[in-house]
Amino acid sequence: MPTPRKIIIDTDPGQDDAVAILLALSSPEEIEVLGITAVAGNVPLPLTQKNARIICELAGRPDVLVYAGCEAPLKRKLVTAEHVHGKTGLDGPVLADPVMQLQPGHAVDFIIETLWREAAGSVTLCPLGPLTNIAAAFLKAPDVVGRVAQIVLMGGAYFEVGNITPTAEFNIYVDPEAADIVFKSGVDLVVMPLDVTHKALTNKARVAAFRALGTKPGRMVAEWTDFFERFDMQKYGSEGAPLHDPCVIAYLIKPELFSGRHINVEIETGSELTLGMTVADWWGVTKRPANALFIGDVDADGFYALLTERIGRL
Ligand code: BDR
Ligand code: CA
Repeated sequence: MPTPRKIIIDTDPGQDDAVAILLALSSPEEIEVLGITAVAGNVPLPLTQKNARIICELAGRPDVLVYAGCEAPLKRKLVTAEHVHGKTGLDGPVLADPVMQLQPGHAVDFIIETLWREAAGSVTLCPLGPLTNIAAAFLKAPDVVGRVAQIVLMGGAYFEVGNITPTAEFNIYVDPEAADIVFKSGVDLVVMPLDVTHKALTNKARVAAFRALGTKPGRMVAEWTDFFERFDMQKYGSEGAPLHDPCVIAYLIKPELFSGRHINVEIETGSELTLGMTVADWWGVTKRPANALFIGDVDADGFYALLTERIGRL
């Protein structure tokens, strides 16, 4: 049996982040979660770090190391998304405060020290929120950049353009300077933009399948989805809502569910109008070198089958 891939999940939970974390923690054959680093994003840091601990407890994994990271983007004021995720970031079911403790120390130091400690090329970073913690680690300890195996992240858009502004996806928009550092880092990047996540939509049958698991995690996922869906259904008139962040973890488990192109992707940091845009050369109209595998398609039935089967293990 292949050894599981070592990952750090960097996250701003967020209901879809929560499902991603549950997917990772329910897949020990493929994934070893070295730690979870919280960042400010969907809601402020005190809530994202607390939510990360709630999710670990829900998965029966209070032993997972959870660290708090940056409370604001590198150079900008934090923009949050309570309009999507609710006041707590995990609105939907009522959840008790976690008992497990936050780790002492800063998430950025944990990322750096883990990359120093583990064999070079053995740790994959999985950012599910703004890229502040990752960029801060690269700025503080540039020698860790070459030790990262891969970064598989949720962020950006090309055909779908934007969700928080007409031209920018939330995670990139919140900290475009951090995104710019990551996209220029030279690390092997796999990007899950809105182009693919908007094809990973919930629907009645998919949510019913979570509920039918008859377990607490299954019920929580269904209730989170019920809450989270209303925003996108109203906005897009769609049947359900995209589970963005679980695409990152699903890619680690079953990359064959996804397809994309190796292309050049650059981040707009200057323009007020298009700030945070991922300028993706999907059609190869520039000579700029490819720096990312930009995913465009997913087998949505396969994705939801995987999610349901794995959440059912918890
Ligand atoms: C991304 O922004 C957040 O609202 C979600 O958790 C996801 O990471 C989608 O644009
Ligand atoms: Ca997120």
